[in-house]
Amino acid sequence: MKLLIINGPNLNLLGRREPDVYGETSFEDYFSELQFKFREVELAHFQSNVEGELINKLHEADKEEFDGVILNAAGYTHTSVALGDAVAAIEAPVVEVHISNVMDREDYRHTSFISKNAVGVISGFGLDSYRLAILSFMEQEQGK
Ligand code: DQA
Repeated sequence: MKLLIINGPNLNLLGRREPDVYGETSFEDYFSELQFKFREVELAHFQSNVEGELINKLHEADKEEFDGVILNAAGYTHTSVALGDAVAAIEAPVVEVHISNVMDREDYRHTSFISKNAVGVISGFGLDSYRLAILSFMEQEQGK
C-alpha cells in the first residue's frame, strides 16, 4: 500500500510551534517513527505553506497512484474552497487529520472545506492522529 501524507501551512514548525497545542516532536522525527512502525506501507510526505502547491500535490496523488492521502490542511482547512474542490476532484481517498481537537477550539476552526469529500476525519489525538489514519486505510484494505 502506498500512502501520501500532505501537511499544510506552519506544520513545518511542529515541535517548536505552540508546543502546548501541537506537542514537542518535529514531523520529521514522527515520520521516521511511522516509517519504522509501518514497514509494509510505502509512506511519502509532502509539506507546503502554499495553497496551490498543496492542490498540485493532491492532483499528483492520482497520477502517482497513491492508494490514499492523509491530509492535514492546517489553517487552509477552514478557508480554502479550492483545496476542498481538489479533494472532490481526485480519485484517491482522502482522510482529513488534525493534531488538535478542532471542535474544542475557536468557532472558526469548526468549519472544514475538506470534510464533505473526505472518507473521514481524525482530530484531537495529537500526532497519533496520523497513525490512526494509516490504520484506517490498512483496515479498509483488509476489508474490516
Ligand atoms: C490543525 C488545526 C488547524 O485549525 C490549525 O490551523 C493548524 C493545525 C491541527 O492539526 O490541529 O494549523 O490542522
